[in-house]
Amino acid sequence: MDTSILNREFQEKFEKQGNLYFAPGRINLIGEHTDYNNGFVMPGAVDKGITAEVALNGLDVVRLYALDIKKENSYVEFSLHQEDKPKHHWACYVFGVCKEMMKRGVEIKGFDAAFTGNIPSGSGMSSSAALENVFSIALNDIFADNKIDRFELAKIGQATEHNYCGVKCGIMDQFASLFGKEDCLIRLDCRTLEYKYFPFKPEGYKLTLINSCVKHSLGTEYNERRESCERVVELIAKNHPEVLSLRDADMAMLQEFEGDIDATDFKRAKYVLEEKERVLAVCDALEKGDYNTVGEKMFSTHWGLSKEYTVSCEELDFLAEFAQSFGVTGSRVMGGGFGGCTINLIPETLHDEFIAKAKDAFNDKFGHYPEVYEIIIGDGAKKLQ
Ligand code: GLA
Repeated sequence: MDTSILNREFQEKFEKQGNLYFAPGRINLIGEHTDYNNGFVMPGAVDKGITAEVALNGLDVVRLYALDIKKENSYVEFSLHQEDKPKHHWACYVFGVCKEMMKRGVEIKGFDAAFTGNIPSGSGMSSSAALENVFSIALNDIFADNKIDRFELAKIGQATEHNYCGVKCGIMDQFASLFGKEDCLIRLDCRTLEYKYFPFKPEGYKLTLINSCVKHSLGTEYNERRESCERVVELIAKNHPEVLSLRDADMAMLQEFEGDIDATDFKRAKYVLEEKERVLAVCDALEKGDYNTVGEKMFSTHWGLSKEYTVSCEELDFLAEFAQSFGVTGSRVMGGGFGGCTINLIPETLHDEFIAKAKDAFNDKFGHYPEVYEIIIGDGAKKLQ
């Protein structure tokens, strides 16, 4: 990884050198919107991420410089004692990580940091989790002797989203970026945080992202989906007190309350229950090397996310449909939705032709080309030197 620009900018801005840290973005093969329902997910870390250089400054302020942000918005300073969030949204991620670590008893002192990344913004590959994690591993290293374990670091990132960034997300993104392992997907049980690595190098296939370039940003609409799920759980729990989340519910319980549940909430909960089964079916299929089943489930997830959970958009539906009619093994919207990428499991023999045709067809319809990224599954967050 070439960090020379970062080193130079840091030196110019702060007239010293710091330590370097890296945290990756993530993909997710299957298990979407299941994490905050205590279900299973199947993510992996990617080779793209955020690198930060960090050094103590002897003050009680944090001075931050974001290399990839427009110059006039790229520098933020905040005091470690201030209660109000910084006004630049990007700085709230770092502010939140500091505050969450302080809540856990870590004595954070003033520091200077600069960071840069190569996760395409709004692509649904979780640049926000990468930003939280690159700072949580740095601060853990500098101020806590690495005593905070990675499970807690993932929770620190998640709490940052909840308390400082307005997204009531699950734990998948932070977990994947911290626990990623080269060429492996992670089956994570979001209830217990038990996880298992699944080596993933499907012979004869490529895993490719196609970015619709519809900018996704999670907020109200994401939180509304989570609230739908919580309302359904509350109802079901009236007759089934053992049900604490949709993870504990089944289709029969949902149907029992069909008349009482708002139609939108019902569809959303149905999707989550179906998705829960799909993740487990994909794990079985992966163990048998049965990629046709993996692909079938990916398509079912797409149409579930589109028609039931309603987090897709015209561009993503077009890409999934095009893939399906082209004979691609599996394709679906990835991540929170509302834009970003489809993840595609493509037979190598079809890959180049499919990508070329999909790009042209997309451009004909929407007037711009999508971006294409070949997925390389990499390791989780780490110190670089
Ligand atoms: C976003 C959230 C995750 C997860 C996905 C959907 O990426 O941050 O917690 O809910 O959406 O699966």
